Amino acid sequence: MAVVGGDGTVLFANAALEDAMGTSRRSIEGSAFPDSFAEPHILRNALDSAHSNEFAALRFDALLTRHHNDPLPVHVIVAQTERPGEIIIEMLPLEAQARQDREERLIDQAQANKELIRNLAHEIKNPLGGIRGAAQLLEMEMDSPEMTEYTQVIIREADRLQTLVDRLLAPHRRPHVVGDVNIHEVCERVRSLILAEFPKGLRVVRDYDTSIPEFRGDREQLIQAVLNITHNAALVLAERINEGDAQIVFRTRAVRQVTFGKQRYRLALELHVIDNGPGVPDSIKDRIFFPLISGREGGSGLGLTLAQTFVQQHHGLIECDSVPGRTDFKILIPLP
Ligand SMILES: Nc1ncnc2c1ncn2[C@@H]1O[C@H](COP(=O)(O)OP(=O)(O)OP(=O)(O)O)[C@@H](O)[C@H]1O
Ligand SMILES: [Mg+2]
Repeated sequence: MAVVGGDGTVLFANAALEDAMGTSRRSIEGSAFPDSFAEPHILRNALDSAHSNEFAALRFDALLTRHHNDPLPVHVIVAQTERPGEIIIEMLPLEAQARQDREERLIDQAQANKELIRNLAHEIKNPLGGIRGAAQLLEMEMDSPEMTEYTQVIIREADRLQTLVDRLLAPHRRPHVVGDVNIHEVCERVRSLILAEFPKGLRVVRDYDTSIPEFRGDREQLIQAVLNITHNAALVLAERINEGDAQIVFRTRAVRQVTFGKQRYRLALELHVIDNGPGVPDSIKDRIFFPLISGREGGSGLGLTLAQTFVQQHHGLIECDSVPGRTDFKILIPLP
């Protein structure tokens, strides 16, 4: 960040800018800031318009030149300050900007999804009871066993839909049980559930940072979220489980000064669930957190939607990074 005068002379530069440019504050301050960019005229024009009060804030992408280093692609925000003749220039590395945009999109999408799901589920739920009841009545009236086969189909399918709808509504209905949560207890619980289901050929490795403090949250929800992620991993590992070299790693870390979900947190926990499976299919990679998106036979595509909802109820976020041989689901949750 820099504050410049109307002519582009730097009045103040902060430490982050010193770091980014690889030079001292003293040599930045007093210099003509537009000359620090690969194309000085863009900033110069922006400053001119700022000077003539043409906008409140202006944004563009540019290349910031650096000492002993390649130019850095940055997103530049030029804004007026309270004081006349002083303009504030904020620069975000483009990579960070892209990540922030992506996260904001994820959160907005999740919110829209949630409302759609809730409304749809309610719409399905009400007539479903009627359909099932009517099929039962029909069945009682019928003598031919061939006919009851049909009513049985109706009843069975209605029950299947009922289960699906109940899962869709689960995050909204379940009362929030808030207590102190130890993330490693959550991991251990999931580990034993998974190992009970896949007793052979799968290793679940723990890599815990035991300094992570407890935090307020809903333990059961978090177990469900981590279980959904880990269960997916175990399923795609089927081949490797047969060969006996399937592996899932639980890695926990405390991270400082992180930004996610439009907010900056002093401290947060990261839980990575990493598997050595085939990776998320490219065709659904961008959409795995959407409801009803599934890449496997018989999947309902709700596991990750629910996991994301549960983690977001803890003001957190789940991200996925996947290449063949290494899929990493990262759960981020702010810590007190
Ligand atoms: N670790 C992973 N490696 C590869 N693909 C994965 C992994 N985790 C999830 N996926 C893909 O993402 C899809 C969506 O997962 P999600 O848990 O939301 O639904 P599902 O497992 O298909 O059904 P459900 O969990 O509701 O029974 C999966 O079907 C799978 O194709
Ligand atoms: Mg699943």
